[in-house]
Amino acid sequence: MEIVIRPDAEAATDLVARVIAKELRDNPRLVMGLATGRTMESVYSRLVQMHREAGLDFSGCHTFNLDEYVGLSGSHRNSYRHYMNHNLFLNVNVDLRNTHLPNGAAADIEAECERYEKLIAECGGIDLQLLGIGLAGHLGFNEPVSSLRSRTRIKVLSPLTRAQNAPLFTSPNEMPRRAITMGVGTILEARCCLLLATGEDKAEIVARAIEGPVTSMISATALQFHPHCVVVLDEEAASQLQETDYYRWIFENEPQWQLYRDQSNVAHLGGRPAKPAGRKKEVAPV
Ligand code: GLP
Repeated sequence: MEIVIRPDAEAATDLVARVIAKELRDNPRLVMGLATGRTMESVYSRLVQMHREAGLDFSGCHTFNLDEYVGLSGSHRNSYRHYMNHNLFLNVNVDLRNTHLPNGAAADIEAECERYEKLIAECGGIDLQLLGIGLAGHLGFNEPVSSLRSRTRIKVLSPLTRAQNAPLFTSPNEMPRRAITMGVGTILEARCCLLLATGEDKAEIVARAIEGPVTSMISATALQFHPHCVVVLDEEAASQLQETDYYRWIFENEPQWQLYRDQSNVAHLGGRPAKPAGRKKEVAPV
């Protein structure tokens, strides 16, 4: 796991968007795993900006979202399909047919979960999985005591998750009690995981997820098993970590992060960053 700490939420978001943009430029047929939630809104807004101002091309990529509420069709304004369409898909040149979310309104949910897993496999698996973290420490909707080997399935949402997400509903009582979510095992199969957390309210759960013992009580701790996981935090979300000096030292010294340390590259948004004179091409951090 690599931990990158940026001064504020904007800088953390910017770094995540630039990593995604670089991966997309390097592999236009990238299979992306996507997440929802308030934190991701600014990532998507940045990607839309990169598409508009620097021609970041989404036309060849495929996307798979982590989760969807059970009982909400894609046209419901609080569905994650609606969220994705309005925050990203309809604002870039992705082919909507290549964007996938579990169907929360499916008559046979079990069959829908199987279909979703099969579809991911048929696409060759997920190259880059974007992740947020809920206050309950969940990835997707893998609530406490989710099996760390679980696959896409239905989960009952915890009271903490309901409290966190209900305010996002037009009428909070309408929030479904269950969701379809990729399993922890499904997520761990992504070739690379990229988690973003910002703000002080995430500090405690971030510290437990990164530096605490692996436990099914906090599904994000399973990322400690992942061979290629990058966690991007702002100072507030990093404030309860023990080893911040060490994480900063790594970021300052790892050649693979050079591209992201060099502020002169920021101006290039989603376009091809300027190659530093006389230096070999850097290895992509993800
Ligand atoms: C929801 C999603 C999670 C996401 C979490 C964080 O619960 N299912 O995938 O990580 O929200 O939300 P926020 O960014 O609003 O804190």
